[in-house]
Amino acid sequence: MEKMVETTRRLVDELISSTDTPREETRKHEIKHEINRLLDEMLLSLEKREPESSSSPEEEEQVVTPFVVSVKDGGKIDYDKVIEKFGCKRIDESLIDRVERLTCRKAHVFLRRGFFFAHRDLDEILDAYERGKKFYLYTGRGPSSESLHLGHLIPFMFTKYLQEAFKVPLVIQITDDEKCIWKSLEPKDSRKLGTENVKDIIACGFDVTKTFIFSNFGTVGGCSKFYENMVEVGKRVTVNKMMATYGITGEDPAAKISFPAVQAVPSFSSSFPDLFLGNDKLPCLIPCAIDQDPYFRMTRDVAPRLKYIKPALIESKFLPALRGKNGKMSASDANSAIYINDSAEDIKRKVNSAVTGGRDNLEDQIKYGANLEEDIPFQYLSFFLEDDAELEHIKKEYGEGRMQSGEVKKRLTQVLTEVVERHRKARAAVTEEMVDAFMAVRHLPSKFE
Ligand code: TYM
Ligand code: TRP
Repeated sequence: MEKMVETTRRLVDELISSTDTPREETRKHEIKHEINRLLDEMLLSLEKREPESSSSPEEEEQVVTPFVVSVKDGGKIDYDKVIEKFGCKRIDESLIDRVERLTCRKAHVFLRRGFFFAHRDLDEILDAYERGKKFYLYTGRGPSSESLHLGHLIPFMFTKYLQEAFKVPLVIQITDDEKCIWKSLEPKDSRKLGTENVKDIIACGFDVTKTFIFSNFGTVGGCSKFYENMVEVGKRVTVNKMMATYGITGEDPAAKISFPAVQAVPSFSSSFPDLFLGNDKLPCLIPCAIDQDPYFRMTRDVAPRLKYIKPALIESKFLPALRGKNGKMSASDANSAIYINDSAEDIKRKVNSAVTGGRDNLEDQIKYGANLEEDIPFQYLSFFLEDDAELEHIKKEYGEGRMQSGEVKKRLTQVLTEVVERHRKARAAVTEEMVDAFMAVRHLPSKFE
């Protein structure tokens, strides 16, 4: 380390003292290059000295990673703690007001009701947008099941709103490689799930002229700049850091170490030379649930070293599992999740089995009212019932004991059946040609109107 510092000083001295003949001009560039290389090496060796502390899931009260979301003793996720631990910022009223002003429309319910609750540099994206500088959106899906569940739908519904409101291009990454590495799926099977998921995603209503959907298996190798960026990222993160950030152990398959770079690089516009015509300074905004934050923390660490802009993030809470308030709705427990291809009967049965905050008997319910914090059907309504006045009414009546949980479940069943039915119709209209159109490599227009 000391030696690297010494060499850097010497090179800077040489740079300052040189005059500008053409030969010296070339030498200056060489020196600049060498200094950058040394600085990268220094940063890497600093990381080697201070590996990120990793505590095992059993030791922690709550764990939120891309792979595990759990809370000890069935408690609720403390999102303030998540913000503090991850180091992101809470979205406040003034930021929401700004979004409304800039987009000339009311904010999406997910934003108004605080589900998208955390961000990184969203204010900077808005500052730039106000000055007339555009950005692009990036989000993704790891195909772990044939159909999406309602939790997965949330970032896509929200991304559609962002695309419409800001009139910006969007890239959607299908990480079929990820699920093949983590879920022991054969590549051909995870590619197949990916294609089915793409249809569900298209059915959310994205604008094909501004949206590029790609699968990692299908296209990463075919885009040399994308792969180049992956290697550049991989060069700047130590194995220790990868292991600590993603909970990887020495016994895990080596492919787990190289995956995070694949999820990182769509955050850099230079990874898409055809889409953005070589513009490597287009800022990126990533909508996702907060479980994906570790990937982008790493990406943001590395970005300045590659002279790229750090991606901004807008992050949501989780739609909880039906059977309990802790954790998130997850594809690995079919009864705790509502899939968007579930029948009306399935939905009714699943909603009826949900954990409620209603009291044990009618007498107590009338006396004390329901505990809304514990009530999963009410929480679902607050995600999916768009009518603010009706939601407020239910909150008051149910919370004060004049409404019973059966009634709330019935309303939720109606609301979800409608959401799923609407999606089913839209999905049935998605043709193979539309899939090809969304997945075709092409220039995404820079005049977004
Ligand atoms: P995946 O497929 O697990 O999830 C897709 C998106 O859905 C969010 N999500 C949820 N949101 C609310 N409530 C829930 N219960 C819930 N469960 C999942 C996830 O946070 C995610 O936004 N590695 C990623 C794929 C990916 C990606 C990205 C995601 C690649 N690049 C960029 C976001 C942004 C994955 O497996 O997501
Ligand atoms: N090459 C295209 C571009 O530069 C898009 C592309 C091809 C791509 N393969 C990819 C993007 C893999 C991401 C990943 O815009």
